[in-house]
Amino acid sequence: MMMSFNTTTTASNASCSLASSQKTSVRGVRANNKLRAQKHAIARQNGRRASSLVVCDGTGKFVVGGNWKCNGTIDSIDKLCASLNSGKITADVEVICAPPMVYIDRVQSKLKAPYQIAAQNCWVSKGGAFTGEVSAEMLKDANIPWVILGHSERRSLCGETNEFVGLKTKYALDTGVKVVACIGESLAQREAGDTLNVCFAQLKAIVDCVTEKDWENIIIAYEPVWAIGTGKVATPDQAQEVHAGVRKWMNENVSADVASKVRIQYGGSVNAGNCDELATKPDIDGFLVGGASLDGEAFVKICNSAAHSK
Ligand code: PGA
Repeated sequence: MMMSFNTTTTASNASCSLASSQKTSVRGVRANNKLRAQKHAIARQNGRRASSLVVCDGTGKFVVGGNWKCNGTIDSIDKLCASLNSGKITADVEVICAPPMVYIDRVQSKLKAPYQIAAQNCWVSKGGAFTGEVSAEMLKDANIPWVILGHSERRSLCGETNEFVGLKTKYALDTGVKVVACIGESLAQREAGDTLNVCFAQLKAIVDCVTEKDWENIIIAYEPVWAIGTGKVATPDQAQEVHAGVRKWMNENVSADVASKVRIQYGGSVNAGNCDELATKPDIDGFLVGGASLDGEAFVKICNSAAHSK
């Protein structure tokens, strides 16, 4: 199915202003059409019917994140760093590890390339009298290049709203910290048929706050809440369906160029056994891994699943 590309943005200007430059680039549309035509031709050659859900596929580099959450001790974290450093990452992949804040400096001094570091959260504005928080300025000062924002655990346990996550995303980006922005539906929302609407509302709150250029420094992590820490992974087709829907929405609400380049990670019970098959899906551009990222060998295997990416 050929998709018609919108030439205007439909994202409204809510509490934070959207850049007027948020228009579909004609060159991006052409490049995208070409890319899609190539993919469909290859699919036909392979005797497969090109899925109507694949609207443009991701073109960015595969990226795997390890979200260590609130786990570890000095001893276990030193062992994990040693295990990661001794693992062989052979695939062409970007890797980002997010240790607990108190160990971040230690991990940063231990992990070697290609590992990059992320924080698991930061404050919505400039630091100050915000007990227990960490500001984006502090992350920047400490050379932490990435932050995970909007994780479902923070949304559900700490009451972070879509709008709050949008504002945090913009503040971190403006401070020079790149963002892994998490979205995803609960089981009840999926069962009610609301999966895409929930994801789009979460995304819209971010789109309303950032400029088109900001998307160069944002990764979207689609993490169905029902799959997080449950051992119940989304099937590759379930994940692909949402990823393709998200990319199509980005195409219609941001631009064809951003839609094609933005990387969409899947997160939720990814492990060494299921990663290779998930990685073959055209709109899955990486993973955000919780439990399995605490096992160095398993995590390296998940990073190397990038070799299966299409
Ligand atoms: P999980 O967590 O891999 O343990 O399901 C993923 C996440 O919450 O990022």
